[in-house]
Amino acid sequence: MYAIVTGMNGTVAPELARALEANGYVVVPWVRAEVPIDDPAAVREFIGNVKPDWFCHVALGSPDWAEWAAAACDEFDIGFLFTGSVSVYSSSQVGPFSIHDVPEPNDDYGRYKLECERRVRLANPDARIARLGWQIGEAPGNNNLVDYLHRHHVDHGHIDASRNWIPSCAMLADTAASLVGIIEMQSAGLYHLEGNPGLSFLEIAESLNRLRGNPWTIVPTDTPVMNNLMRDDRVEVRPIIETLAPSET
Ligand SMILES: NC(=O)c1ccc[n+]([C@@H]2O[C@H](COP(=O)([O-])OP(=O)(O)OC[C@H]3O[C@@H](n4cnc5c(N)ncnc54)[C@H](OP(=O)(O)O)[C@@H]3O)[C@@H](O)[C@H]2O)c1
Repeated sequence: MYAIVTGMNGTVAPELARALEANGYVVVPWVRAEVPIDDPAAVREFIGNVKPDWFCHVALGSPDWAEWAAAACDEFDIGFLFTGSVSVYSSSQVGPFSIHDVPEPNDDYGRYKLECERRVRLANPDARIARLGWQIGEAPGNNNLVDYLHRHHVDHGHIDASRNWIPSCAMLADTAASLVGIIEMQSAGLYHLEGNPGLSFLEIAESLNRLRGNPWTIVPTDTPVMNNLMRDDRVEVRPIIETLAPSET
């Protein structure tokens, strides 16, 4: 089985590629320097030539690229997975969000991700769209929560962490495993991948701090007051608590 994966220089795609390979897939990366993403004919030709079993569109990039790739996969009968984001919900919307809750994004990133979803769905009715929460990796260095905390600490000398913010998040490796589960077990449609059973940002930050040998000074705060959780009973994501084992805070 073959899978084209886009975004391989990023955070989620390499982890997904590892999970796919562990499940018997040969991963073909989309190398943007070799295959242009702004030419619909080139997009179609590359996908038609490789003819993988799955196309996993994990990269950021234009809604046009997402649409053209989704359409080519529809034409060639190739499975199409798109990674969306919890950011389609605005910070003033209150979770937990089911897939039926209508996103009202209030920033450019959320609007962009929602537009990609819309284009993918129109171009390919069989597409699977998996919205992800904030990814928790093992170390700073890419787009994950540990990196955010590290950089915040470097910049400010401490980390403000709200006990009243329940963020949508999951361990990166667990997200990758669940994405493979969606490919293998689920049908077309929209999915929410949530690994947080209800821990606050404060609890998560303190747990990560402890796991990393307490490099950070964490200052508990009461704001922001937010709940960005998603929910979806159809998809299992290993709860972050199994990795973080938080204390009573
Ligand atoms: N990381 C998170 O916490 C998180 C949370 C929610 C949702 N997501 C979703 O997960 C997916 C992957 O995110 P990520 O964290 O892996 O992102 P990332 O680390 O920023 O990497 C994204 C990859 O997308 C490609 N890319 C970036 N800008 C591009 C552009 N202008 N045009 C074309 N390609 C571009 C690059 O891949 P190449 O150089 O290999 O082509 C890049 O390595 C995205 O759909 C994101 O919305 C991530």
